[in-house]
Amino acid sequence: MANEKRPDTMERITTKALADAFIEAEVAKVRAQVGDKKVLLALSGGVDSSVVAALLIKAIGKQLICVHVNHGLMRKNESENVIEVFKNGLDANLIYVDATDRFLNLLAGVSDPEKKRKIIGKEFIEVFADEARKLEGVEFLAQGTIYPDILESIKQAEGKKAVKSHHNVGGLPEDLKFSLVEPLKFLYKDEVRVVGEALGLPHAMVYRQPFPGPGLGVRCLGAITRDRLAALREADAILREEFDKCGLAEKVWQYFVVIPDIKSVGVKDDSRYEGWPAILRAVNTKDAMTATIEPIPYDVLAKITARITTEVDGINRVLYDITPKPTGTIEWE
Ligand code: XMP
Repeated sequence: MANEKRPDTMERITTKALADAFIEAEVAKVRAQVGDKKVLLALSGGVDSSVVAALLIKAIGKQLICVHVNHGLMRKNESENVIEVFKNGLDANLIYVDATDRFLNLLAGVSDPEKKRKIIGKEFIEVFADEARKLEGVEFLAQGTIYPDILESIKQAEGKKAVKSHHNVGGLPEDLKFSLVEPLKFLYKDEVRVVGEALGLPHAMVYRQPFPGPGLGVRCLGAITRDRLAALREADAILREEFDKCGLAEKVWQYFVVIPDIKSVGVKDDSRYEGWPAILRAVNTKDAMTATIEPIPYDVLAKITARITTEVDGINRVLYDITPKPTGTIEWE
């Protein structure tokens, strides 16, 4: 990652006109930097990697090779959406890797959150490196580094301690040496979104809520099992659907479902029904260091509860976490 400072003279990108000017300048820079060589990008579908992809497709078309790794911990329809937007919509050179079994087999029986993060981060690099080794003539690696990432790495270099490792993607193995292409490295998140919209990406993708690198892996608490993960994915999709319908999705910073590894006794069709509880979380924050609770209206809570308990196999209760940060962190793991 570049360890540079944003130029003092750089104007904040707040309008489409400023975004268009930025895009034009970056397209020219990227073309000059990579010439006719190929560029590789890990495209998760998050805001930053999506905007980099769209920008580079505009600059160099099929010289950009996007690799989307599905680690089996994505939310419902997320990988399908990446394929739809980039392969079908923008005609991207996109390699889709379904590595679900690789990840879930390695994670089986592992309950420590930091160990889970490390396994996911390490395996992600291995899957990506395996794909990179199959390709020929790639000299560049594009990354969705943005300015807060640079500021964060400076802070860490100064020895400030983090509560969680926030492990995503580390460095690639020694045999894979690429020059970096980081067109967003001086942008703040709000500027990345303005640029994304100017590039024509869907609003929902550009304004997508933050999603941790380890994905649903840190929301399926303790040792991940496929059945509980499937229940989590369905319950989370229902929460998101209902938030979309009532307008909360536009307003709340981050909202999701967590499923702990416990069962309680319930009743269904007059019979004993042991199931997991689904825990709802909806928080607002500026910098994720502290967070407040979004008060979800009672009728929305009731609707979500009714839907999750009837539509999702294995869930018999719904709980609502109203703990701010601190003392709770945003994620449960
Ligand atoms: P916490 O749980 O530490 O989360 O209050 C703060 C923000 O960071 C996200 N988060 C992660 N993001 N890799 C990530 O990319 C991680 O391992 C990770 N853990 C937490 C969390 O979703 C929230 O937005």
